[in-house]
Amino acid sequence: PAERDVLMARCAELLRAHDAALVAHYYTHPDLQDLAQATGGLVADSLEMARFGARHAASTLVVAGVRFMGETAKMLSMDKRVLMPDLDANCSLDLGCPAPQFSAFCDAHPDRTVVVYANTSAAVKARADWVVTSSCALDIVAHLHARGEKILWAPDRHLGGYIQQQTGADMLLWQGSCIVHDEFKALELEMLKAEHPRAKVLVHPESPAQVVALADVVGSTSQILKAARELDAPEFIVATDTGMFHALKQQNPGKTFIPAPTAGNAATCKSCAHCPWMAMNTLAGLARVLESGHNTIELAPDLAQRARLPVARMLDFTA
Ligand code: 13P
Ligand code: SF4
Repeated sequence: PAERDVLMARCAELLRAHDAALVAHYYTHPDLQDLAQATGGLVADSLEMARFGARHAASTLVVAGVRFMGETAKMLSMDKRVLMPDLDANCSLDLGCPAPQFSAFCDAHPDRTVVVYANTSAAVKARADWVVTSSCALDIVAHLHARGEKILWAPDRHLGGYIQQQTGADMLLWQGSCIVHDEFKALELEMLKAEHPRAKVLVHPESPAQVVALADVVGSTSQILKAARELDAPEFIVATDTGMFHALKQQNPGKTFIPAPTAGNAATCKSCAHCPWMAMNTLAGLARVLESGHNTIELAPDLAQRARLPVARMLDFTA
């Protein structure tokens, strides 16, 4: 702990000295979340992370999360320097949806409105009509469906299937998935529910449909946090990345949070549901990039401009 405190203090000083603001996702290490909170930065879901950078006065943004979050911050703040503790922090959804193949998919279905999840590269976003995150996807697709539009959706098939089922929209789905949420298991969750009859079940919609069907609340990270604060229950079973347990416990001292079972034995596997790319973000890495100036996100201006349009549409819609 003493070593951790020294590193935290050094990072806080480096952020101040470099006129930098830290924005961290809920799935990152608790130290990074605490540092963001203590230094006037932000801990947030992917939608609020996108909004934060452009609003903050700092000339440098440090994004503790995964690659697409850094790219989104950059395209919305081209005048700012955007750094990430580790540029290899990716996402299985982004990796599973390469721009050339995605573009060909769009070309084959020109009659459809292209809606992509924020967990994609800038090049994929540049091909989209709308970008959405899990906290606004349902509302945006419902809005497009009400206007009679047919949707081409990418990349997460579980989130896409859930939205299709909820809205009745005509959606053609890219078949991507999140390696973390894809591992939650319905049968084991049913057994865990039976052991905890008073527990409410909170599920991120990147999980398989059978798991989503067992949820009391389905929502993005910020919606899961809101439900945990507002629902009057003593315990919760949570199907999302275990990084979330830090904020859940911080915000609800009297409540108990139980990880939902994954493919491994949930009782013995403490890190099954933890994104390996989110885990690449560390305090030491953050100190290193601030000292060296390495790991900047660079985007070609014309690509950034094209990718920004559908992101701005989402930000306007949710403002
Ligand atoms: P949120 O939009 O809920 O923060 O989710 C981002 C993400 O990567 C989920 O796995
Ligand atoms: Fe991507 Fe899943 Fe990791 Fe989120 S948890 S960044 S969706 S791989």
